[in-house]
Amino acid sequence: MLSYRHAFHAGNFADVFKHVVLVVLLQALARKDKPYVYLDTHAGAGRYDLHSEAARKHREFTSGIARVWGEREAPAPVAAYLGAVAALNGGAARMAAPGGVPRWYPGSPRIAHHLLRNGDRMVLGEMHSSEAPLLQREFAHDRCVQVVRGDGYHLLKSHLPPAERRGAVLIDPSYERREEIDHIAAALREGHQRWATGIYVIWYPVMSKVPAAALHRRIVAAGLPKVLCAELCVLPEDNPLGMNGAGMIIVNPPFQLDAELQQVLPWLHRRLAVDRQGRAEVRWLAPG
Ligand SMILES: C[S@@+](CC[C@H](N)C(=O)[O-])C[C@H]1O[C@@H](n2cnc3c(N)ncnc32)[C@H](O)[C@@H]1O
Repeated sequence: MLSYRHAFHAGNFADVFKHVVLVVLLQALARKDKPYVYLDTHAGAGRYDLHSEAARKHREFTSGIARVWGEREAPAPVAAYLGAVAALNGGAARMAAPGGVPRWYPGSPRIAHHLLRNGDRMVLGEMHSSEAPLLQREFAHDRCVQVVRGDGYHLLKSHLPPAERRGAVLIDPSYERREEIDHIAAALREGHQRWATGIYVIWYPVMSKVPAAALHRRIVAAGLPKVLCAELCVLPEDNPLGMNGAGMIIVNPPFQLDAELQQVLPWLHRRLAVDRQGRAEVRWLAPG
């Protein structure tokens, strides 16, 4: 039984970080003309209403999208990310002033959809009984999107390797189950066996309850080459309360993704950090 609902967290600092990294990655894939596939195993509802009771309960968006929304001097990938948010809110002309918040916040499927070109496609997995119908409704009649209700980890078996032989898999679980790291490691093994050249991206929180080092060790132990790790912490890591940061592990990153992230993450850190605490970091867990 899943209880996590992303509506309570939509647009928080971890979403901003995750979605900017996703933009950098998909823009890199779009540098070649050939079509790609984007597979999102834990897709959520697709869009979130920041005026809803759920979003307003903890107002997590005030420490995320509110800190960059309306920003005119953002680095190019952040500007593209803000463009995706604006597109869901009536376009750039209606972007709010700095400090405001948009009504609608796009989940990872909407961000990816904004960047899709003719011929690209996406496959979205969602298991939650209330999120999955919302996701299906969000992309109903869109022929480049396939929504699959059920365990998203199964998509790595049923949909890999893709016909395009190019693309990325986002694994963005809610870490409700203690054995989530086992599922991630198994999914990566499965995916890599079926499609060794695919890009695999795993999001994780930096908090005392979810040990990032254990996840890193499991992925390195799997023997995969080319594993990049990007982290953005807005508080010191030893802060015992809540989420102090977030990380993304990227297996087989596109050429120069490390350099691009190294450019954009310090800017994001300056905007999102609480009293300049925390850090932004990009490092290789396993070289090529
Ligand atoms: C962190 S949220 C996803 C957010 C989304 N990727 C985004 O960035 O907008 C995690 C989602 O995974 C769903 N979920 C949890 N376990 C799942 C599983 N095994 N398969 C598919 N979805 C799952 C939850 O219901 C939740 O909607």
